[in-house]
Amino acid sequence: MTLTVLFCVDPLHPRRVDPHFAREAAAVRDHYGEIALIDHDALQRGDVEHAVRSVPRDLGPAWYRGWMLTSAEYTALAGALRRRGSPLLTHPDDYQRAHELPGWHDTFAGLTPNSVWRPLSPGEDPGDLSDLVRPLRGGPAVVKDYVKSRKHEWDEACYVPDVKNLTRLRAVVSKMVALQGEFLAGGVVIREFERFDGAGESRVWWVDGEAVLVGPHPDSPGTLPDPDLAAVAPAVRALGCRFITTDLALRSDGEWRVVEVGDGQVSDLPSTTDPMDLYAHLPVPD
Ligand SMILES: Nc1ncnc2c1ncn2[C@@H]1O[C@H](COP(=O)(O)OP(=O)(O)OP(=O)(O)O)[C@@H](O)[C@H]1O
Ligand SMILES: [Mg+2]
Repeated sequence: MTLTVLFCVDPLHPRRVDPHFAREAAAVRDHYGEIALIDHDALQRGDVEHAVRSVPRDLGPAWYRGWMLTSAEYTALAGALRRRGSPLLTHPDDYQRAHELPGWHDTFAGLTPNSVWRPLSPGEDPGDLSDLVRPLRGGPAVVKDYVKSRKHEWDEACYVPDVKNLTRLRAVVSKMVALQGEFLAGGVVIREFERFDGAGESRVWWVDGEAVLVGPHPDSPGTLPDPDLAAVAPAVRALGCRFITTDLALRSDGEWRVVEVGDGQVSDLPSTTDPMDLYAHLPVPD
């Protein structure tokens, strides 16, 4: 069978791949693979049938590569594609487990900063957080939602100097919730802060439990750290998802730490990485 990848469509040119993914689509075609288009805007509007309407019927099992989807959007997309004869190779449960921190955190315990979380709806008041942060050690912490941080608003909506200062914590969490607006994913996550070496993260791409590509994180595309994967690989296999990424940073004491896990279908591939280095490793269904 051929490698089939469903890319997001260019909102301005409905027959073209979104320019952000054009390089990748070209790599799939060069690899004798097949591509089709998904309308991400339609998916966000809740019109899943419109989102998949240009996918040919009975195209067969496929990977998605595109913008991030909420777990609900991914589930809707997977259902519509299954009915169309093009099931996604990552099950919605596996997508959510890799995409949202509560899904992968415990599997990576000891390898990732200790974290707590609580579900929260967009715009909801976080309330009293004292019980939530009790398991965390005192000192600095990082706040995010189940998927994304407001790292560019670090002091006001991401970093707290002391997690046991509940007034300040609540202000930072409220600001993060306000800035995420309707896109708040799942709820609030609070993580113990760890000091990294500042050299940039390494994004490792895993397929069926094997590291197939070690590249830079999109925030530091020019640097290429060389992480030790010995401790991470068993956790990746335990998570049991077919296609994921792990972002690794070197802690100042020399330990490689997992900053984040992500679903490989929606992790950004930096423009400095040759897409062929990834797509050559994506399994083709038999
Ligand atoms: N526990 C932590 N200790 C120290 N620094 C952290 C911690 N968590 C996050 N950071 C810093 O904040 C940045 C953003 O965090 P994280 O990667 O979790 O959020 P994000 O918004 O999902 O980012 P992206 O998807 O772009 O990688 C990290 O790259 C790291 O530099
Ligand atoms: Mg990150």
